[in-house]
Amino acid sequence: MLLAFVLSLINPAPLHLRRLGYVRESGLLHARSRRCRRAWAPHLAQAKEVVAQAAAGCADRRLAVVLGSGLLDDVPLDILAKGFGAVRLVDAVHPWPTRVAVRHYPNVALVTAEISGGLSDPAVGQALQGAGFVVSANLLSQLPILPIEAYERRGREAPALLGTSIVEAHLAILTASARAGATVCLITDTLQREEDRHGHEVATLDLMYGVRLPEPSLAWDWELAPFGEVAGSRRFVHRVHAYPDWGASTW
Ligand SMILES: C[S@@+](CC[C@H](N)C(=O)[O-])C[C@H]1O[C@@H](n2cnc3c(N)ncnc32)[C@H](O)[C@@H]1O
Repeated sequence: MLLAFVLSLINPAPLHLRRLGYVRESGLLHARSRRCRRAWAPHLAQAKEVVAQAAAGCADRRLAVVLGSGLLDDVPLDILAKGFGAVRLVDAVHPWPTRVAVRHYPNVALVTAEISGGLSDPAVGQALQGAGFVVSANLLSQLPILPIEAYERRGREAPALLGTSIVEAHLAILTASARAGATVCLITDTLQREEDRHGHEVATLDLMYGVRLPEPSLAWDWELAPFGEVAGSRRFVHRVHAYPDWGASTW
């Protein structure tokens, strides 16, 4: 908690994104990723491998864009920076480890943007302009969280289909990029399983808000919160789908 608090103070971000809670969320995620380093390692390695393979198969190597770059834990930055003419990393918050990492690569730029509104933040459309390779890296399930929380903080209920429309808007951006000729790689957690210590499933949560995704090329489990992280007798496991070529998966 202390690490998350300190990070929420020192990570730079525009005031409106800070007020919306993105800096706080980024700090919490950073702290949890370090606490759960061992449990997350197989998921992060798998995700990195999927992105690296998708990048290797991409013909247009002028520009790669990573949506939800965050801490770059699931992004093979070196491969992208060396394999593409330019790389744009897009996130609401670029934490310090990422800011330090990109200093080694003059062709890598940081773009600060709010991605949950589809293309309503012009910075998202600008970042995607001319992309030959687009990655959405463990971002999609996160997009509805703060917009829904914003209603709840004001004591109001979020519109019933808010989560669904945010998920759909993001997929629409990815599909449009693929139709424009980019290779699009989508990695997202889709379903949360809450399990007890006997391996019994006690609850599930649809992280896609009812949006049905096509059959993934690859799928795996991500132990998001091992026993003790959220509750002593419960762990949370997320089912991850990977689409190294989203365009081919959808038509
Ligand atoms: C689970 S993390 C993704 C992990 C990241 N690829 C990494 O390796 O650290 C989700 C990322 O999405 C970003 N994010 C969540 N909602 C966002 C939004 N509405 N606009 C822009 N970025 C957002 C967060 O700041 C965070 O960095």
